[in-house]
Amino acid sequence: MNDNKLVQSMNMNKEDFRKTMETNARFQELMMMYRCAIREIQTKLEILNDEFKTKSQRNPIDSIRTRIKSPASIFDKLQRKGFEISIQSIVTNLNDVAGVRVVCPFISDIYAVANMLVSQDDVEVMEVKDYIKNPKPNGYRSLHYVVIIPIFLSSGKEYMKVEVQIRTIAMNFWASLEHQMHYKQFDTDEMPEIVNELTMCAETIYDTDVHMQEIREDISKSVLRE
Ligand code: GTP
Ligand code: MG
Repeated sequence: MNDNKLVQSMNMNKEDFRKTMETNARFQELMMMYRCAIREIQTKLEILNDEFKTKSQRNPIDSIRTRIKSPASIFDKLQRKGFEISIQSIVTNLNDVAGVRVVCPFISDIYAVANMLVSQDDVEVMEVKDYIKNPKPNGYRSLHYVVIIPIFLSSGKEYMKVEVQIRTIAMNFWASLEHQMHYKQFDTDEMPEIVNELTMCAETIYDTDVHMQEIREDISKSVLRE
């Protein structure tokens, strides 16, 4: 991919970037490619969900949400991490321009879905972060992958990065509310007790997730015995 090093002016701000990108053909093409990559991943997940449902009478995926990072967020992240502001820099340095969030009923579904996805031979794993086995200090839990998948355009094959976050309904409940409060309403340094309360909520939620899974396993065992 040829780079258009177009916006490396020291005083370019977010609004300039957003406006420039609206009419930049290379940027628009790149975003189209990320959207295609999201569709590929979404279709793979929907197929796996259908197949699992047919075999087990149960969906391992409750919902799938996708998003493309906005030009303003792309600019913020490049700047925050000290990367060059250019199209090539987006491709090289950002792993989460294309994002897919998969919400599963049970913890075991997370690993089942992840394994089914990454064992497909056109899916390459670039990075895995298991925040379920190793939760963040604030209690955040989720399984994160950055995968690389091919998309097929008239000009040939392009490999695109997609960030896939997989979590339970309960983990998603916590993360959604924590995100709202964290980003919009309070400064964590000023209110450590609130951070602590939220961490305790995350632990309670996780215990409930584990308990719900145990109940489901007990039900399956008793159904098998009948
Ligand atoms: P970023 O620069 O934020 O992308 O961090 P990273 O590249 O180290 O990735 P990481 O896997 O830690 O987080 C990626 C994404 O996971 C974030 O953009 C959020 O969507 C989500 N996430 C990570 N940590 C938290 C958290 O503490 N709370 C919530 N609500 N979401 C989180
Ligand atoms: Mg990230």
